[in-house]
Amino acid sequence: MKKFTCVQDIGDLKIALSEAFEIKKDRFKYVELGRNKTLLMIFFNASLRTRLSTQKAATNLGMNVIVLDINQGAWKLETERGVIMDGDRPEHILEAIPVMGCYCDIIGVRAFAQFESRDFDYQETIINQFIQYSGRPVFSMEAATRHPLQSFADLITIEEYKKTPRPKVVLTWAPHPKALPQAVPNSFAEWMNATDYDFVITHPKGYELDPSFVGNAKVEYDQMKAFEGADFIYAKNWAAYSGDNYGKVLSTDREWTVGEKQMAVTNNAYFMHCLPVRRNMIVTDDVIECAQSIVIPEAANREISATVVIKRLLEGLE
Ligand code: CP
Repeated sequence: MKKFTCVQDIGDLKIALSEAFEIKKDRFKYVELGRNKTLLMIFFNASLRTRLSTQKAATNLGMNVIVLDINQGAWKLETERGVIMDGDRPEHILEAIPVMGCYCDIIGVRAFAQFESRDFDYQETIINQFIQYSGRPVFSMEAATRHPLQSFADLITIEEYKKTPRPKVVLTWAPHPKALPQAVPNSFAEWMNATDYDFVITHPKGYELDPSFVGNAKVEYDQMKAFEGADFIYAKNWAAYSGDNYGKVLSTDREWTVGEKQMAVTNNAYFMHCLPVRRNMIVTDDVIECAQSIVIPEAANREISATVVIKRLLEGLE
């Protein structure tokens, strides 16, 4: 594998899952693969899970790891070509990226949507520059439109907990005070659409996702109706995608907060969220603390998804 930014890069999901379960049984099985190889993790945005799980994954594979927080201790980077650099950004990303590539074998990048231009975000300008100019295999640690390491961990978790071959999985919008990117819901939809699960998306009108990510999923505007008979509830907030509303918060309606009322109409569904989660905005204390909440095993599977992905990138090195 030469890059990992979307579901297509991982290939056959059954093979990827069987690798994940093999690594889960013995996470140090490939510890020789990364000997004398270096992973550089670049963060343009904050992280808890991605930072820890990816670093752990790299050490499972015997790698050295360098972590760089662009906004803490590095020069501020200009990202657009043609800009007269007389402001507060002394380095251009087009020099910074190949320099970073000199010091490592594989690069992980976290660069969220900036909500200034939908085109800039949806063209994945930042991570594509890393792919183009670093000379190294690059993987996404959450980019502007997708969070594939999270989605792969979500898939592993659903496979572990599902009680029927074709579970009903519901992605629900839930309220949040700030504008959040669509990367997690886009990516979750992309990965769910690559399975044969019964997949439903529910959100208030105005929160339609990019149709290319919605794919063949059923969209149901009535949250209670969507939850009926569900086996998994995946909650997430996202800002509006459409037109002039791109990046805006259109509603903070707490009727959409996932609580016992909604969970009562499910098939004793498991509750999932990528974390961090705002309690009593996205989900009530009672639901996130209940026995059916699997947010912690879901987060634990981030180590597994990252180990599979970095292993594949190591195997693809020339
Ligand atoms: N789910 C997730 O990516 O968490 P972090 O933002 O803490 O890395």
